[in-house]
Amino acid sequence: MSIRYQTSLDGIDASMLSGFFVGWPHPPSSETHYDLLAGSDVIVLAIDEETDRVIGFVTAITDGVLCAYLPLLEVLPDYQKRGIGSELVRRILKMLRPLYMIDLVCDDRLVGFYERFGLWSATAMCQRDFDSQAGRSR
Ligand SMILES: CC(C)(COP(=O)(O)OP(=O)(O)OC[C@H]1O[C@@H](n2cnc3c(N)ncnc32)[C@H](O)[C@@H]1OP(=O)(O)O)[C@@H](O)C(=O)NCCC(=O)NCCS
Repeated sequence: MSIRYQTSLDGIDASMLSGFFVGWPHPPSSETHYDLLAGSDVIVLAIDEETDRVIGFVTAITDGVLCAYLPLLEVLPDYQKRGIGSELVRRILKMLRPLYMIDLVCDDRLVGFYERFGLWSATAMCQRDFDSQAGRSR
């Protein structure tokens, strides 16, 4: 398997973005997924060069001065546990450094995963409007 990593949407269209948001009751469509990637400040995509399909992605929102937030990281189920998620995190952290703050919110089960990259646990506050889970058109 040959995986390519890229940091832009060059050559990517919505049809290459299927299968993500596993387990979400109201997942964003592929088109909305494309829009959120386009609206993010920094992205890293993992692409299976044999199928030309995006198989993993990570996004960051940043002020470019002090702070960045990583809202989304996902690797398609068939491609998990092969180091792709780790590579996405390593690459986006490298692109964001040396910002002072890099934050994300995750489930307890993923604390160990993120600790591998030098992140540590802190209390987060969050809000979700589940009526808006599928996203809105830009
Ligand atoms: C989290 C996620 C991106 C990891 O991607 P991945 O490509 O499987 O990650 P890697 O192969 O680099 O895994 C690195 C290590 O973390 C561990 N790990 C991966 N996902 C894990 C999980 N959900 N829970 C606990 N450990 C996990 C792996 O076992 C692996 O350990 P190893 O190196 O000892 O084998 C992937 O499981 C995923 O897309 N999950 C659903 C979406 C999600 O939870 N995103 C994070 C939102 S904060």
